[in-house]
Amino acid sequence: MPVHLQIVEDEVDVARAASQHVCAQVRERSDAVLGLATGSTPEATYAELVQLYRERALSFARVRSVNLDEYCGLDGAHEQSYRHYMQTHLFDRVDIRPWNTLIPDGLAADREAECRAYEERICALGGVDLWLLGIGSNGHIAFNEPGSSRDSRTRCVQLTAETIADNSRLFAASTEVPRRAFTVGVGTILEARRVLLLATGAHKARAVAAALQGDPGTHCPASFLREHAHCTFVIDRPAASMLES
Ligand code: F6R
Repeated sequence: MPVHLQIVEDEVDVARAASQHVCAQVRERSDAVLGLATGSTPEATYAELVQLYRERALSFARVRSVNLDEYCGLDGAHEQSYRHYMQTHLFDRVDIRPWNTLIPDGLAADREAECRAYEERICALGGVDLWLLGIGSNGHIAFNEPGSSRDSRTRCVQLTAETIADNSRLFAASTEVPRRAFTVGVGTILEARRVLLLATGAHKARAVAAALQGDPGTHCPASFLREHAHCTFVIDRPAASMLES
């Protein structure tokens, strides 16, 4: 089945639409396993979800969550860690139970064991119901950089110069951006029952066009999502601007 494409006006509408997809999933199954992303793109979606929780329209009390990735070498309390991001934007603001939130441990001494354990824990949860994704300007999903295979699993990867440059805006200097990260694999993501990719802004237009209309392959890991039976892209008009009709 082709990717379902939902083009909306702007990033506010992307957040509204995305939060409705998440809401529908949790209403369908109150103990849903949500796959979550960090980064700029989902921030507004998390704000919408917090609002729905405050209005008592949504509860995370039984929800389990799994994150895509985490920087190697950063403690969960570090301001730029993805654990800190999730606590700040969502977990500390809704009723999700701390023990139901799973993020790789950036400080794990045995990185291979951490990756194996992460896959096993996803399996023990029964797999992911809905995985929320962003897309890198180079077509990465999670930290599956170009070159990542379709069957890749959770592992510790080297970040590309492009991703380090993209992410350096959040650090005091680009030299402070960790060079390595834990990431689930493309294969791990493709096993989710549903996938929801969000993209906003003209700087994502090339990656979105490559993912949806370019030759599929490892040069654009997001293009593998076209194989998924239930994948939706929610994107705004600037991010859709390079799509051929
Ligand atoms: C985040 C992640 C990344 C981002 C992507 C887009 O957990 O895995 O793949 O989704 O780099 O980042 P933003 O949204 O900051 O443009």
